[in-house]
Amino acid sequence: MSARMRRSLKSKIRLVLFPLKEGVFLNSKDMGEYSLFQHILGFFNKIRQRRNVDNLTTNRLRKMLDPARLPRHVAIIMDGNGRWAQARGLPRGLGHRAGVESLKDIVSVCLELGIKVLTVYAFSTENWKRPQEEVSILMNLLCEYIQKELKELHEHNVQVRAIGHIDELPLPAQRELEKAQKLTANNEKLILNIALNYGGRLEIVDAARKLAMRVKQGEINPLDIDESLFKQYLYTADLPDPDLLIRPAGELRISNFLLWQTAYTEFWGTSVYWPDFRPKHFLQALVDFQKRERRFGGL
Ligand code: FPP
Repeated sequence: MSARMRRSLKSKIRLVLFPLKEGVFLNSKDMGEYSLFQHILGFFNKIRQRRNVDNLTTNRLRKMLDPARLPRHVAIIMDGNGRWAQARGLPRGLGHRAGVESLKDIVSVCLELGIKVLTVYAFSTENWKRPQEEVSILMNLLCEYIQKELKELHEHNVQVRAIGHIDELPLPAQRELEKAQKLTANNEKLILNIALNYGGRLEIVDAARKLAMRVKQGEINPLDIDESLFKQYLYTADLPDPDLLIRPAGELRISNFLLWQTAYTEFWGTSVYWPDFRPKHFLQALVDFQKRERRFGGL
């Protein structure tokens, strides 16, 4: 192999390793081929070791769970994709892409455990303020996710739903969502509820508007409006309220997510960014949830 080819190979390896090294460049100039090879081996060994530890943790946590007291509905604010990418010197879009992988893992765990509803916050009504390029990346990722995963989701009896102002999304995204919802409408194992162009305040305003219309048409007496009637006008009318809300990436706020539905939801947070969120974190959240005493305002 000529010196030039060797140099080009080394720089290619460096490029591949760059994202893997958590934002730290390898200085291949100072490394001979042997040490570079060792470095690669070391890196993959580390991944293997970490995976073994993760598997042990996951199995231990699984055993701690009481299957009879699992939450029926878990909601997740998939936060930290951007910071995950930035910490590695990568474009934000790659953070979102890595976030989709975490979503796939968590859907699998929900199926395995028998959790009935998973609601994920994928795009808020405020997210339109982001640069156009990032919005497009998110919409394309949504389409790609459905195109690649729909068959498997359907085979696993997952019902895909979307909540939010879906009619304002780009047409390809609307079409993919429609296809997914139609195909999986009768599935019953898990409802995967994707909040897109969603705002909690907007949802409440929408419900109030629909109720007001019915009052105007003389179909409802304003005195009959109570919490249970109001709930029937929310996007989640037929779903139980979330028992558990998970927010990664260290922020402790609700960010306009499921404002009505989270009145008595248990919160669980972690500093881990969403792309690093693994089944072990999800199981830890469930174990902690089972330790909570839920009183719903009573004693
Ligand atoms: C918040 O992280 C995350 C989002 C606004 C998008 C979440 C979307 C996905 C995980 C992928 C697309 C979804 C589907 C259903 C395929 P952030 O970008 O605000 O992170 P930061 O606070 O670190 O900047």
